[in-house]
Amino acid sequence: MKILGTGSYLPERIVTNEELSEIVDTNDEWISTRTGIRTRRISAGETVSDLASKAAFAALEDAGISAEQVDMILLATMTGNALMPNTACLVQKKIGAKYASCLDVNAACSGFLYALNLANACLVSGMYKNILVIGAETLSKIIDWADRSTCVLFGDGAGAAVVAADSAKRYVSETGADGDRGEALKAGETGLGNFIVRREEKLNYYMTMNGQEVFKFAVKKVPECIGAVLKKAEVFLEEIDYFLLHQANVRIIASVAKRLGVNMEKMPVNLDKYGNTSAASIAILLDEIRKEGKLAEGKKIILAGFGGGLTWGAAYLEL
Ligand code: ACO
Repeated sequence: MKILGTGSYLPERIVTNEELSEIVDTNDEWISTRTGIRTRRISAGETVSDLASKAAFAALEDAGISAEQVDMILLATMTGNALMPNTACLVQKKIGAKYASCLDVNAACSGFLYALNLANACLVSGMYKNILVIGAETLSKIIDWADRSTCVLFGDGAGAAVVAADSAKRYVSETGADGDRGEALKAGETGLGNFIVRREEKLNYYMTMNGQEVFKFAVKKVPECIGAVLKKAEVFLEEIDYFLLHQANVRIIASVAKRLGVNMEKMPVNLDKYGNTSAASIAILLDEIRKEGKLAEGKKIILAGFGGGLTWGAAYLEL
């Protein structure tokens, strides 16, 4: 699989740590030292399909293909506009990808990696030719803005990549999940209610998180997963030009770098600007790094993420 083009879109509204300290009992020092986050973008009216479509337009332009050439849209999100129609269909309508099959993928922050895997499988099987893979979130709508332990961490945004089959470019991946630990990160419970049973009253709509459990899980699982992918791909760690990690917390990224013995220069960080954008974070970073000219033909990269589920994944790509 090869990447034909990438794009990203962030809402204009920048929210600083100082601004959050006017809403909840927090401060810039706590947020930046514990997480590395300084600002995040928050949607002032744009929905996930709006953000995703803007990132998609940019990726198509970069790839030099028209929306009508897209065979499938895979949209990784946990904050879709509605349960039905899926948000990929809304993106299809906005961008005019009238021949595309449309599917949303929900694996929380690992969603973009799971979607890339599905894209790769569809390309390898010959089912489709050009696939638009998007990661997009408006996490701000599932955040409890009175809960300082979560509201300072997240942001809204979207990133996209157009991928196509290319037997000369290797793509090797590893994903996993541990549903037993799903309680550590939850949001958006809908519950069951019908004419037989009453809907539970105490449903958990807003994001709740056991921060320390997620932290411990991430610093162990991400290096393990990267190690497994490298082994599968028969590639040495030293051959990798960049490791694009899910942008949740700079301390998690630094810990992964240390465990692997990799210089932080190979692990770009943009969470200081955008916070944790869940399924969008790796896609946005991929676009930024590419636009900086760092992903020239022949470069080798690793993408890796973790998130609610709990889910995780890593992928090795040759550019
Ligand atoms: N401002 C000030 N104080 C705060 C804030 C805040 N925003 N939030 C919590 N605190 C307080 C707590 O109340 C606590 O106070 P206490 O000691 O008086 O009880 C103290 O700070 C320490 O809180 P901890 O939760 O122990 O802080 P910790 O060092 O664990 O850092 C953090 C919290 C940053 C959330 C960390 O655990 C972390 O990054 N975990 C990983 C989270 C993550 O990556 N989540 C995304 C997963 S991806 C996805 O799928 C969405």
